Amino acid sequence: MSGKRTMTRRQMLARGALGAVGVAATAKAVGAAEKLAELEPSHDPNTASTVGVVTNASVDPMTFLEEFDFGRVSTLPSGQTLRTFELHAVDREIEIAPGVFFPAWTYNGQVPGPTLRATEGDLLRMNFHNRSSHPHTIHFHGIHPANMDGVFEVVEPGETFVYEFVAKPFGLHLYHCHTVPIRKHISKGLYGTFIIDPKGGRPPAREMVMVANGFDTNFDGDNEVYAVNTVAFAYQKNPIVVRKGELQRIYLVNALEFDPINSLHLHGELFHVYRTGTSLEPSDYTDTIMMCQGERHILEFTFDEPGRFMFHAHQSEFTELGWMGVFNVVDVVA
Ligand code: CU
Ligand code: CU
Repeated sequence: MSGKRTMTRRQMLARGALGAVGVAATAKAVGAAEKLAELEPSHDPNTASTVGVVTNASVDPMTFLEEFDFGRVSTLPSGQTLRTFELHAVDREIEIAPGVFFPAWTYNGQVPGPTLRATEGDLLRMNFHNRSSHPHTIHFHGIHPANMDGVFEVVEPGETFVYEFVAKPFGLHLYHCHTVPIRKHISKGLYGTFIIDPKGGRPPAREMVMVANGFDTNFDGDNEVYAVNTVAFAYQKNPIVVRKGELQRIYLVNALEFDPINSLHLHGELFHVYRTGTSLEPSDYTDTIMMCQGERHILEFTFDEPGRFMFHAHQSEFTELGWMGVFNVVDVVA
């Protein structure tokens, strides 16, 4: 925390809640926002949120939650499946809370980038076109040759690079830009989820992707807005409807920069944890999971009770700055 800062993180978000745009807010708006900020946000999901609606987010959080890009699929003469993906680096301003805009660097114009999905053993071909104004790369987590690692082969604006490797091992991976300064390239929005399914698949479940992220809206090296899937409080304003008794599977990725630790806490149930998704046997049964930067886990749980249950970072500050959501568990007669 810098002593030079004249505005707290909470005041930043409150300013956005009033419709003021970034640092260009008028003194009048700031004054009103400070008043708003004096009202301590509570843990009650009815009151701890933003005012207004985000209309210029690069992703619709409800759609993004369950959207997978399986690539263009073909079969090689050997019988191996080839999946071809198109990824473009594009600069784009995105809305992350009502009236709060962020000048993002994106894959395919969206933050997070598309959720790429393949099966272990597939041949993956990632055509990466840098249509932005800065050099970038794509660094995939997983096993692959050194020249496919997206570190030393920097892709300049206007250039194309093709990453090609076999999908392994199965698990919940991550991709992100690895151009220096890395934390700038990641915090600007260049990251996404990379799922490699085991050959036999996983048990049937309702599947969701949650990328925990944050935004440094005043460029002070600290996040002012926190979320899963970019839009602050998105799933608090529009609770995720789940069926009582149905297995839920969350692919949870921590793409947060600046803060070393992030977490997820689930109300009303406990979940099984598959660390990095690399095993079919859970390693833990808990209600709170901690993640370092870049860490990710698959969580599985089933609600036994209908009603509204929160999920959020257990760092209360992150919760109050946007990283909070609600599951609305409904009792559906089959
Ligand atoms: Cu980059
Ligand atoms: Cu709570």
